[in-house]
Amino acid sequence: MIFLTSSARHLKLKGRKRNYSLDKYPSGEIKINVIADVNSGCVFIIGSVLPDANSLLEIMIFGDVLKERGLKVNIVIPYLAYARQDKQEGGEPFAARVVCNILRTVGFGKAYVIDAHNIKLNRFFRFINVIPVNIFSKEFSRINDPIVIAPDKGGVKRAKGMADFLSCEMACIEKARLGPGRAISLALKGNVRNRNALIIDDMIDTGGTIINAADLLKKNGAKDVYVAATHGLFSGNAIKKLEKSQIKKIVITNTLPLNVSSNKIKVVKIEPLIEKIIYS
Ligand code: R5P
Repeated sequence: MIFLTSSARHLKLKGRKRNYSLDKYPSGEIKINVIADVNSGCVFIIGSVLPDANSLLEIMIFGDVLKERGLKVNIVIPYLAYARQDKQEGGEPFAARVVCNILRTVGFGKAYVIDAHNIKLNRFFRFINVIPVNIFSKEFSRINDPIVIAPDKGGVKRAKGMADFLSCEMACIEKARLGPGRAISLALKGNVRNRNALIIDDMIDTGGTIINAADLLKKNGAKDVYVAATHGLFSGNAIKKLEKSQIKKIVITNTLPLNVSSNKIKVVKIEPLIEKIIYS
């Protein structure tokens, strides 16, 4: 049986049922009531950790009530927020570790995260990182003479996986951050001249990373610039900026609920990948 928390309710997964109710107490506290009659075997919670803390709390409360029933509880986390706060620097806490430590306390059987920003978070909460390379490679299989681009150092492994899948070369951008939501691309390692560049990233937030990357790639002679990214946050006026950018096409998945209407942006379904995790 699968339990979709509020943050994953937009996913049209096979086998989904109305198996719990979610209300709020007058004080604002969330109140979950599992109505499904399930007392043995294995269940899956599907739930993202969003910037809003209630999403994490829902996962924890579900985990607790289902484990109390003696069930083996697995989880798929379509999007893990706070993963970018992945080191302690000055007065800035290692928030990703805090979130992972909280998740660990449930004692999930198996945990899967769709494209976690930093796989090393695995040290605090054991999970399998699932990157939808397969989905993206289908979308971009017709690009002529592609070169896969990692928009920063952290994305090299992801880009390598995609390049292997497409049997092509990869190049890397060195990115410097000026502050939260303010990125600047600095240097390109690799030759993109007269080639179609495919940037692969875990998420698009303000759009700054890929817009700067596209400018740099064009400056270095790339033909068309495409983007594949797993999570679409599209904060602020990101969509408008992307529309005006030099990027030709963006493919994103629906790990987060999306309501974008842009000729440049195509949303592909993550459900088949999650179903594969659950049912195979
Ligand atoms: C950063 O290291 C991430 O992998 C993404 O590149 C970044 O978070 C995207 O954010 P934005 O769209 O605001 O540049």
